[in-house]
Amino acid sequence: MDPSISALFSPKSIAVVGASRTPGKIGYEIMANILGYGYGGRLYPVNPTASEILGVKCYPKVSSIPGEVDMVVVSVPSKSVVEVIEDAGKVGAKVALVISSGFKEVGNASLEEEVVRKARSYGMRVLGPNIFGVVYTPSRLNASFGPRNVIPGGIAFITQSGALGIALMGMTIVEKIGVSSIVSVGNKADIEDADLLEYLAEDPNTKVILIYLEGVNDGRRFIKVASEVVTKKPIVVIKAGRTEVGAKAVASHTGSLAGNVIVYKVAFSQAGILQANDVEEAFDISRTLANIPPPTSERLVVVTNGGGAGVLVTDTLAEHGISLTTPPPPLAEQIRKLVPPFASLANPIDVTGMISNENYVNSLLLALNDPEVGAVLGVYCQTAVTDPTMIAGILISKIREVGGLSKPLALAFIGGEETYMAIRRLNDFGIPTFPTPERAAAAIASMYSYMRMRNNVMLRLKEVLNA
Ligand code: COA
Repeated sequence: MDPSISALFSPKSIAVVGASRTPGKIGYEIMANILGYGYGGRLYPVNPTASEILGVKCYPKVSSIPGEVDMVVVSVPSKSVVEVIEDAGKVGAKVALVISSGFKEVGNASLEEEVVRKARSYGMRVLGPNIFGVVYTPSRLNASFGPRNVIPGGIAFITQSGALGIALMGMTIVEKIGVSSIVSVGNKADIEDADLLEYLAEDPNTKVILIYLEGVNDGRRFIKVASEVVTKKPIVVIKAGRTEVGAKAVASHTGSLAGNVIVYKVAFSQAGILQANDVEEAFDISRTLANIPPPTSERLVVVTNGGGAGVLVTDTLAEHGISLTTPPPPLAEQIRKLVPPFASLANPIDVTGMISNENYVNSLLLALNDPEVGAVLGVYCQTAVTDPTMIAGILISKIREVGGLSKPLALAFIGGEETYMAIRRLNDFGIPTFPTPERAAAAIASMYSYMRMRNNVMLRLKEVLNA
């Protein structure tokens, strides 16, 4: 493993060059986040005109720090970056996070090349430039100027966009989406997605890798590495620049080439990468894949208390290549005892709007316990005879009693204010729950898509090995 990439996620010590005394300045906010999020390593602010920042002793240069420095966060104007890299390189810093803008994205490619050349001459790697920083929750590292209280969890999020990445960081907090890491890659002058993928594939804290991608410099390497990674864990990509006008916007944003849309699509599916159409879908899929176990068989059973919602999920599942087969007869027989005589015991199993809170939960649990069922999608429409928060409470305590989920369960809770309270509670507990039938169906379908694509990739890799 490249020690520079390890130092990016778990540095033993950090120097913040351009640490500022002024709240609101980037160099101040990064210091405040590192301290406030609870980083346990050594922290050295670097600023030639300050003696201390946020109570931490300041140094005029990286080379005047009396100890080893693993990571250097560079937050000084672009014209000073080469000089800082030189100074940090001389004392053996392993990785530099160049926050500063003013490089390739504004036509200044030669300055960017000089930064990388200088860093490489000392064996140092560069993340950026033009980035908001790095978060790695297992190390309590938040070396960014994004929101501070990121929730630990299983998603590693790599983003080529800065402001959007910061905004999405905020969204993960509100939506209670747990992340292992957030990496802003900016102009990708040196460290690329493939370097990060190699590290994250082996990272036990990362269950799913989500990438907001505008373009890659070395497409072949990206696809090669990605197809190896998907045999271990899923990769979800939101590809920006899907249209001609979008691709032009990409060029003026991070200076990347968005590339041919079809070429990307084909390459991604061959590599087994899940492609999300939008931010919402990307997070829905990632949260689902990160939180629940893989399906134990092809057979997916839908349990709904609303016929219309059942039809909508059937459509969405079919669009994702999943056709519902009749439920196993023993399951149908058991559920028959809980539901009115006019209930439909096909798949979706329509337990009807008359079902009680307890029996809706019991129907879900019966489906989950059936040995032939590989995954369950529960669809609940709020009715006057049921209470979504009570359903959530009963379900959580029953699942807790049996020590957690042993096969996937995703839920749609559709209705008013109380359903949103139930959704938050269920998501907090770790059951992916969505406010619309289509989102829940697409989320559970992604698990099957991942399994299928991973199997194809593994088969191809085996063929290559045997050839
Ligand atoms: N070494 C150490 N400290 C230095 C320094 C150097 N070579 N040069 C300047 N400093 C100090 C300054 O004295 C200042 O400290 P102070 O506020 O306590 O006086 C601090 O570092 C910051 O320098 P300053 O010149 O005030 O820069 P700035 O904070 O206005 O801007 C950047 C610096 C990097 C934030 C700015 O140039 C930039 O690139 N902004 C865009 C960042 C961005 O958006 N990135 C992409 C996000 S997605």
